[in-house]
Amino acid sequence: MILYSKQYFPGTREELVKKVSATMSPKRFSHVLRVEKVALELAEYYGEELEKTSVAALVHDYAKERPDEDFIRQIDKGKYSQDLKAYGNEIWHGIIGADFVAEELEISDEAILQAVRLHTTGAKEMSRLAQIIYVADFIEDGRDFPGVATARRLAFENLASAVAFETKHTLQFLIEKEVKVYPKTIETYNAWVAN
Ligand SMILES: [Fe+2]
Ligand SMILES: [Fe+2]
Repeated sequence: MILYSKQYFPGTREELVKKVSATMSPKRFSHVLRVEKVALELAEYYGEELEKTSVAALVHDYAKERPDEDFIRQIDKGKYSQDLKAYGNEIWHGIIGADFVAEELEISDEAILQAVRLHTTGAKEMSRLAQIIYVADFIEDGRDFPGVATARRLAFENLASAVAFETKHTLQFLIEKEVKVYPKTIETYNAWVAN
């Protein structure tokens, strides 16, 4: 039984796992566990704090299966721009999802919350932890897409290159699908790819 340091989560890993798995399908929860696994490997490799990484990975998709109304309500509270309404769960579950992580799981570590916020869009500036969660989400063992082998190799060569690779790939994918691109994703592209 792993008891986390209080500043990360007030309880054990088992307790956190129970709370997170209750909010999502078994399939998604296996994804979460695979993200935790590779995130811990990256943390070990790059000297990031393991407990912090474990908590961030376990909660990164906490809000992924929540109804849209929950996010709309948060936007209407005034903390976010109304423009966010033009997007959907893909964007909301990170940026706004961090609010639910903080409120419902009693997680207050700002680095963990920021890693959750940024895991789908990236950002101009990302902490090492945020980079690890962003990349781990992309390369976890269950992922299978052209380029995943390169992404996995880059992740253990140079974290920033892996962030760049993923950002470019994601943007290409969004453009191919002709869906709206959240401006922050473009900011991430400008900072990490076209720099
Ligand atoms: Fe996610
Ligand atoms: Fe994820």
